[in-house]
Order: sequence, then structure tokens, then C-alpha cells
Amino acid sequence: VGQNLIKLSAVDSTNNYLKKLTSNSEPLPEGTVIMAEHQFAGRGQLDNVWHAAPGKNLTFSLLLRPNFLAVEKQFALNMLVSVALSNVLLKYLPVGLSVKWPNDIYVGDKKIGGVLIENILVGSKIKQSIIGIGLNINQSDFADDLNDRITSISQILQQDVNLMVLLNEICTQIEQLYLKMKAGTGTTLQDLYVSKLYRLNKLAKYSAKGQIFEGTIEGISPEGLLRIKPLDGHIVEFGFKEVAFIQQQ
Ligand code: BTN
Repeated sequence: VGQNLIKLSAVDSTNNYLKKLTSNSEPLPEGTVIMAEHQFAGRGQLDNVWHAAPGKNLTFSLLLRPNFLAVEKQFALNMLVSVALSNVLLKYLPVGLSVKWPNDIYVGDKKIGGVLIENILVGSKIKQSIIGIGLNINQSDFADDLNDRITSISQILQQDVNLMVLLNEICTQIEQLYLKMKAGTGTTLQDLYVSKLYRLNKLAKYSAKGQIFEGTIEGISPEGLLRIKPLDGHIVEFGFKEVAFIQQQ
């Protein structure tokens, strides 16, 4: 991962760019990484916009072809990337790092990174996966309305970090976990992922389907749904945006 690195000064979105490249006739090597100094139409999950100050942060996408992975196991890719990012970031930020399900990277109660995975499925297999990663690194100011929800490495450490060094560490970490997964020896990935979950085992108030309830995040289902145990003890599974956090108890 990252052997074939294409650096762009500006692009709409590295996910879009990589997607276009993969549809050209020339096959791209697996592990190709597209990084951009500036994305002018960076995309987040659910059609959100991803903002990043030019030249300060990491915005990149990488290409995998996990055709050994069945479609119902595709959440393994989210877990792999979340675990890889948190392993690398732990060296810089040893305190307060967690993964907010499904794959936001948090420090304390603030988001420091996000992941947008776009898979192409063929039959029951994953033919191609474009994994877009945005991490706030050296951006020290955010818009006023974001400041209490978003942070960066430099905001926390009061020190800049070399973007290429970090990119290289992330690519290496993703490759290691990916090769383990491919060899079928990555069975602990789910345990690792769950152990890093934001608000794991913390009683909190949530809302779902117009109802408010208290419960604790217990883990995830085999397909990657979020499992929350309400006070009555009957675990409920939720898809993305089917449940909202209200407050810590
Ligand atoms: C999210 O938190 O909602 C996901 C954010 C993903 C942002 C990255 S930046 C590189 C890649 N290109 C995009 O357009 N989005 C992803």
C-alpha cells in the first residue's frame, strides 16, 4: 500500500479521482494511493462535505481489491482501517483515542478523522474498495461552530507533524493488517476494533425511532451493526444513523 503514490495539488475528491482512474482501461496496481494537498469537494459519509485546510491535513484514498472477502463481511474493511488509524495515531496521541462506530476517529469527545469506504460488489464478492481517509493533522483553527466538535494533532500537541511520515506509517499499518486478513489470520480484528469503541460500556441516553432510552454500547454484530443493550437487557442492533446519542448518564 502506497508504493504507487500519486500526489495531486488540488482535486475535487481523491475518492472520485481514484474511482475515475480505476475505470480507465489500464489496470491500476492494488495499493495505489491518491493524496491531495487540497480537496475542493471532499466528501464525507451520507453526502456530507469534508472540509480540510489546504496543505495542512491528510486527505487520501487507497485502492484495495479484497475479492477474498464475502459481501456480508465487508465491515471488516471498516474495522481494518479504523484499527490501523488508531494504532498509528496512538503513537502521537496516547490519551483519549477511540473509534466512533462505524469509523470516525475521536480524541476525547472530538473528531480527528473520518473514513469513506466505497465498494464495488460483483455477485457475492467485493471486487474493489476505495478507502478514503481524512485526518486533521496540522490545522490549528476550525470554524467557530466546529471548534468544540473537531480537533487535530497539532491542536492537541502544539506541534506540527510531518504529513508524509504519517502517511507512510498508515499505509504500512493498513498493509500489515490487510495481509493478515487475506491470509485468514486476522481473527482478532473484531475484538481489537470493539476494544477501541467510543462510549463502549458507558451508560448513556440514546434515541431511536422517536423513542428515548438508556443503554450501553456492547459491541457490534457480525455484519457490523452497532449493538446497544438497553436497561431491560435485550440487545438491539442499529444501522448507520438509526440511533443517535443524546447524553452521557
Ligand atoms: C466522514 O467522516 O464522514 C468521512 C470523511 C472522509 C474524508 C476523506 S478525505 C479523502 C477522501 N476523499 C473524499 O472525498 N473523502 C475522503
